[in-house]
Amino acid sequence: MAFSPSFLDEIRSRVSLVSVIGRRVRLTKKGREHSGLCPFHNEKTPSFTVNEDKGFYHCFGCGAHGDVITFEMQTHRLSFPEAVERLAAEAGIEVPVQAPEEREQAKRAASLYDVMEKACAFFETELRGPAGQAGLDYLRRRGLDDRTLARFRLGFSPDSRTALKQALKQAGLPEALAIEAGLLIAPEASGRDGREPYDRFRGRVMFPITDRRGRIIAFGGRILGDGQPKYLNSPDTPLFHKGTVLYGLAQAREPAAEAGTVIVCEGYMDVIALNRAGFAHAVAPLGTALTEQQIELLWRMAAEPIVCLDGDAAGQRAAAKAAERALPLLKPGLSLRFATVPAPEDPDSLIRAQGPEAMQRVLESASPLSEVLWRQQLAGHAIDTPERRAALEHDLMEKVGGIADRSVQEQYRSYFRSRLWEAFRAGREAKKIYRPFAGGPARGDPRRSRGHRLVDRGPDGRLPGAGLPPTPPPVWQSQERMLLLLVIAHPALLEEVAERLGNLRFSDSDLDKLRQEALKHLDGWGSLDSEDVQRHLRSCGFSQILDCLLEARAHDQSAHFKPDAPVEAARALWEDVFKLYTGKELAVELQQAEQQAAVDLSDETFGSFSALWSTKIRNTDV
Ligand code: UTP
Ligand code: MN
Repeated sequence: MAFSPSFLDEIRSRVSLVSVIGRRVRLTKKGREHSGLCPFHNEKTPSFTVNEDKGFYHCFGCGAHGDVITFEMQTHRLSFPEAVERLAAEAGIEVPVQAPEEREQAKRAASLYDVMEKACAFFETELRGPAGQAGLDYLRRRGLDDRTLARFRLGFSPDSRTALKQALKQAGLPEALAIEAGLLIAPEASGRDGREPYDRFRGRVMFPITDRRGRIIAFGGRILGDGQPKYLNSPDTPLFHKGTVLYGLAQAREPAAEAGTVIVCEGYMDVIALNRAGFAHAVAPLGTALTEQQIELLWRMAAEPIVCLDGDAAGQRAAAKAAERALPLLKPGLSLRFATVPAPEDPDSLIRAQGPEAMQRVLESASPLSEVLWRQQLAGHAIDTPERRAALEHDLMEKVGGIADRSVQEQYRSYFRSRLWEAFRAGREAKKIYRPFAGGPARGDPRRSRGHRLVDRGPDGRLPGAGLPPTPPPVWQSQERMLLLLVIAHPALLEEVAERLGNLRFSDSDLDKLRQEALKHLDGWGSLDSEDVQRHLRSCGFSQILDCLLEARAHDQSAHFKPDAPVEAARALWEDVFKLYTGKELAVELQQAEQQAAVDLSDETFGSFSALWSTKIRNTDV
């Protein structure tokens, strides 16, 4: 049923949102807004706000958001037209009679739904008949039981050009309707050769695609073997527009409300596998990147949907795209989170290989949109010169400028500014602190040409240095070991500390190689468990170093290195060790600079001494 936009606006402006909501929620007025306890989730302190001027309510606790019509729909479980009619009756507004062509359209849509429903029932029956045996075997091989088949109404299209066509004909449904619904293909409309319309889906396992109410609007058909295309989908029809639909939405709505979130994965089979594994709040777009409409649909289910895409290049591209699309649409409280299934798995295969727990870990490692954007931008920029830093800052702020909501935009701006500041500072300090170990003044550096006394390096690349012990004090190495052990025992920690770990350079060259290896896997590592990570490191030739590390751990009493220790404790320990480690480096460097300045006082030696000194002061301030 189509209502004209002006009629809907009239309802919205004539019905008081506060009075409608006030029947259910005790509201108190605060400035321009009313607030109260959210009727959509359990809470003790009010996070539900109603803005009469703007005509919407929003809950900062659960993300419930909408206008007077959606409020009626949700609280009375009404369909859209039902809610509209009810509100109109209350306000004494007459519902306009639909124009004849509108009525015609609505009727036609109704019969398109009938055709789709009929086709779905046909495919379901076929799956259980002789023609569907191969299809049923296939689905069984992929681990689907009867309940799942029924829940998703999977079916089979016989390998015939006329099977569905005949069935629809017998049911008295006009051929033209079946063509319009995308079920039959009408050969080029020239009509001269008189070729007959024929079944679009042949010899495929059928996945019905529904709208949010569960009415069938399209199909995806999977080939049984390896042929192309793997999935054949309905074309766009009056019922179906690919970019506005999410597979599994109707089944996921309630579970999503219960779980307080919704998972977005890549494919039909992933949605179904997630369902089987107890994650019933899963949906998927239809083989394309998330569209704006799909993001809005997701936000109607949960404030922070988890976009859970595959670790391969395609999945990661899709994630980047989703982040890009969501950015302009962000609202206070509404965002996306991102999780990655470690390549080469997808949720379906991961659950099969490693069980629901592995999937749970992937979901728990989801990062906020802000973090993902930051990482994406940082990965695309070097930040070793002022100009490059400025370029990063510029690109970030340009992105932020695209956020339509003012307050979210402000928050993002300050979030990125502080990340930039941290990253630049960490970069600067790392350079200052580690320069002597990293190689000293480069060729072409004025310090060389000015005949500055360059100290020869030891065989390990370290400076023998003024007063510096020939080998690093063992405490350094043990700190380096701890910093690594903690991220190996708690892979999820790596992502949080990566930036700082990346700015260090370990004095022990083996440990440093391990450090670099870890940083290479930033994306996948967080979703693995410690065993996986160790297996990976062994497979890349780190067995010996890893054994040393683990042996050192055996002598250490600390329980923090055990993978089952709480990650919070491990995080706190990492932070402490990091502080000690960088502090120590700084102290040694400072001492060295002081002595160099004493031996050879110049602008330069004094300059580097005083720079270090102020770093030290700043560090102790923090
Ligand atoms: P995938 O190839 O990852 O699908 O494509 P899948 O669900 O894991 O398939 P299985 O496990 O091999 O059966 C992801 C989604 O992209 C769309 C489908 O929606 C699919 O679920 N797709 C893929 C197509 O529409 N056509 C294709 O040929 C392939
Ligand atoms: Mn798959």
